[in-house]
Amino acid sequence: LGPDVAAKPMQGRHVIVTSGPTREPIDPVRYISNHSSGAQGAAIAAALRDLGARVSFITGPAQVSPPEGVEVIAVQTAEEMRAAVEAALPADAAVMAAAVADWKVANAADRKMKKNGSGMPVLEFAENPDILAWVSGLAQDRPALVIGFAAETHDVVANATAKRARKGCDWIVANDVSPESGTFGGAENTVTLISADGAEDWPRMGKDAVARRLAARIAEAL
Ligand code: CTP
Ligand code: CA
Repeated sequence: LGPDVAAKPMQGRHVIVTSGPTREPIDPVRYISNHSSGAQGAAIAAALRDLGARVSFITGPAQVSPPEGVEVIAVQTAEEMRAAVEAALPADAAVMAAAVADWKVANAADRKMKKNGSGMPVLEFAENPDILAWVSGLAQDRPALVIGFAAETHDVVANATAKRARKGCDWIVANDVSPESGTFGGAENTVTLISADGAEDWPRMGKDAVARRLAARIAEAL
């Protein structure tokens, strides 16, 4: 290997990264979403870019800006995110860092709901596609390495190990979000990497450091 290859081990590789929350409409002016900032996904996309990868960055409406030098595909709903992942295939790896809404509003209205005296609206829900499970189970075009995330408050390793099996992905980056960890919503993460080889605890570190370490592991595995 020459020096360039060593510095850019992901040169010629394509990676899909999902990031941020999704936004599920109630009517044309209202929605259901979550507090995902998109910080960890953006940091991972930047770290992969720095290793030379071509990155398709599929993001819901996040608080942080997407990194420079990646292909940004902006989406709103989980269904749009799934379709964008499909359109971005094939890829060598997929990193599903998005906080996808588990449910969409099944009876979303085409027109703004009005307080017209007929009482409170009742929302009905339907399950969204599980993008991670879907991409993990693809018969054709399955990326060689599929990575999911799991934010857990308790029994982190047991829950994340079960989640890895259920989703059929290769790795789960399990994130301890218990109040005791003191990291939820902050700039740092306490992460355990779950793979077929078992659970590997990483020391508490900044989200950028988590991203660089994960990107290096991806380069190694490919
Ligand atoms: N995920 C996804 N599509 C969904 C839901 C989740 O791709 N509809 C992905 C997330 O991006 C993440 C992983 O699956 O990488 C785990 O998400 P999580 O919410 O922890 O898992 P769920 O199966 O939704 O379980 P829970 O009931 O704990 O929310
Ligand atoms: Ca979920």
